[in-house]
Amino acid sequence: MRTHLIVGNWKMHKTAEATVAFIDDFLQSLHATSTEIDIALAPPFTALGAAADRLREHMRVGLAAQDMHWEEQGAFTGAIAPGMLVEFGVSHVIVGHSERRRSFGETDEMVNKKVKAALAHDLTPIVCVGEPLSVRDGGGAQAHIVTQTHAAFAGVPAHRIAHCVIAYEPIWAIGTGKNCDVNEANAAMASIREGVPGASHATMLYGGSVTPQNMREYARQPHVDGALVGGASLDPVSFFDLIRAAHEGFSGQ
Ligand code: PGA
Repeated sequence: MRTHLIVGNWKMHKTAEATVAFIDDFLQSLHATSTEIDIALAPPFTALGAAADRLREHMRVGLAAQDMHWEEQGAFTGAIAPGMLVEFGVSHVIVGHSERRRSFGETDEMVNKKVKAALAHDLTPIVCVGEPLSVRDGGGAQAHIVTQTHAAFAGVPAHRIAHCVIAYEPIWAIGTGKNCDVNEANAAMASIREGVPGASHATMLYGGSVTPQNMREYARQPHVDGALVGGASLDPVSFFDLIRAAHEGFSGQ
C-alpha cells in the first residue's frame, strides 16, 4: 500500500563503526522533527548487526538489506539467505539493483526468485527497474521498465504486489549527477502503475542522483512516494536535509 518512504542505499560504503557514527548523528537530527515519512537504511551486510543494535529503540528508522539469495541455505559461498536477514530485524530488501544486474549477472529470473523468497519471509522487496541510456534515447524506456516489472513479479498475485516497493531507477541517472527530469520520472512510474496489476497501489520510489536540492520536486509528483538514495544518503546531514525536502514536497510546499 502506498506510503511515503525514503531508503538510503549505502552500497559498498561504511564499516560497522562508521555506520554507528552515522546513525547516532542522524537520529539526533531526526528527533528534532516530526515527519510521517518511513525511513530505511541499507548498510552493507557486515554492518547490519551494529545498525540493528543502534536502531532497536528507534521505530522510525527501519533496516534494509542490499541483496539476498533466494534459497534458505546451502552451498552458495558468499551469499546471504532471507532467514539471516530476518534474524537481524531487517524489514526490506533491495532486489534487482542495476549494479547487481550489471556486475553480478543478475537476470530477471533471479530477481523473480528473490522477490518470491522475500515475500515468503515477510520481507518487503524493493524491486529496482530502469532502462539504459540507449533504450531511453530510442524512446523505449516505458516498455522496457514495464516488461522488467512484469518479469520481477511473475507469478506474484496483484494483491501482494500492492504491498511491495518498486524503485524506478534509470541506469543513466545513477551516480552520475544527471537526475531524471521529474515529469519524465513521473510518467515512467505512471506506466508501471498502469501496466502491471497491483502496481497502482504499490509504494513507488524514484532513484538516480537524488539530492536534498531536487528531492522536493520529485515528492510533488503524483506517482512518486519516495526515493532510493545512494550518494546523498552517506552523510547524515545531507540525508536528513533530503528527508526534510521530501516532507515539504509531500505536503505540497
Ligand atoms: P545515487 O544512487 O543516488 O548515488 O544516484 C541511487 C541508487 O543506486 O540506488
